[in-house]
Amino acid sequence: MKLLALAALVIPLGLGTLLPVPADNPVTPEKIALGRALFSDTRLSRDGTIACTSCHDPQRAFTKPEAVSPGVFGRRGRRNSPTVLNRAWGRVFFWDGRAATLEAQVLMPIVDPNEMDLPLDEASRRVGVPVDEMARALATFIRAQLSGNSRFDRYVRGERTLLTLEEQNGLRLFRGRGMCTVCHEEPNFTDEQLHNTGVAWSSGRRPAPGGHFLDEGGAPTTDVPGARGAFKTPTLRDVERTAPYMHDGSMATLDEVLDFYGRGGRANPFLDRDLQPLGLSDEDKRALVSFLKTLSGEAASDTR
Ligand code: HEC
Ligand code: HEC
Repeated sequence: MKLLALAALVIPLGLGTLLPVPADNPVTPEKIALGRALFSDTRLSRDGTIACTSCHDPQRAFTKPEAVSPGVFGRRGRRNSPTVLNRAWGRVFFWDGRAATLEAQVLMPIVDPNEMDLPLDEASRRVGVPVDEMARALATFIRAQLSGNSRFDRYVRGERTLLTLEEQNGLRLFRGRGMCTVCHEEPNFTDEQLHNTGVAWSSGRRPAPGGHFLDEGGAPTTDVPGARGAFKTPTLRDVERTAPYMHDGSMATLDEVLDFYGRGGRANPFLDRDLQPLGLSDEDKRALVSFLKTLSGEAASDTR
């Protein structure tokens, strides 16, 4: 039943009829169910207060309305919880791309001292599930969290009256003058690559020179010099529900995000070449924001 529902949602997504699934971890309803249970299990944290859902709330497209969500003992890292929707199509994980697969990614929050802070053998003992089975179940659950069939998808499939003129203008700007699709590639609105947009450059608060990166992003884990201060392009699916925005949650609203792009991002020595001042009028920005809201989709039935 669940798998059928899933397949029905994948097709309208326009992302292909098949969910990309690793050969050695096939999707089964049992694994989704175990993964769902583990995802909200506070026993996976040292003090028994934090579950994956503490930072990835299924009611909010798997995010939280705060810049940085606290882990055990109120500890905080420095990054915003990203959505886990449509990560089945992910090619790298975390803002800095440091995990290569979902199976590798899902165990990392459990041991992270700022998140759940529990050794894996202890976590496994507490829930009575071997470590590799936890990884496979959690990864499968994440893989099954989909968003599709948004007003945008239906418009693209031919329901031409579904978007207002303002939203259509926004889509035109998004694909055209705004050059947003260079990085936010359709249909999942990400190229799965790291880019420097300048969000992490300190001199946004003070004029250059003398700025530095508040967060090096991809730099410490990749050899590409241009990756300094670079972060993974996030999907824009359900973006209306995932505020605040950016890797540090520093932008509270989509209007702020559009002001930022209108200026061409934040100048710094490693700024991506595809970011330039766009000369967006207030009307253009409003159109872009209303277009972004058409990406709110139907969620897979698997959030409950
Ligand atoms: C204390 C808050 C917190 C908890 C608890 C937490 N996460 Fe996260 N999660 C985050 C943050 C913050 C990031 C981004 C971190 C980074 O990029 O360095 C993240 C990233 C992710 C990503 C990567 C998404 C992407 O697009 O790259 C996945 C998947 C994920 N978490 C799943 C989980 C799972 C599964 C659990 C439970 C085992 C969990 N998280 C627990 C805050 C949390
Ligand atoms: C050069 C690549 C690139 C271009 C061009 C680009 N983006 Fe982004 N976008 C990114 C990256 C990378 C991030 C994350 C940056 C960070 O957090 O440091 C991001 C973040 C965002 C976010 C925040 C999403 C979230 O969940 O936090 C929104 C909204 C967004 N972009 C919309 C747009 C729009 C609209 C345009 C066109 C005007 C655009 N982007 C152009 C790469 C790009």
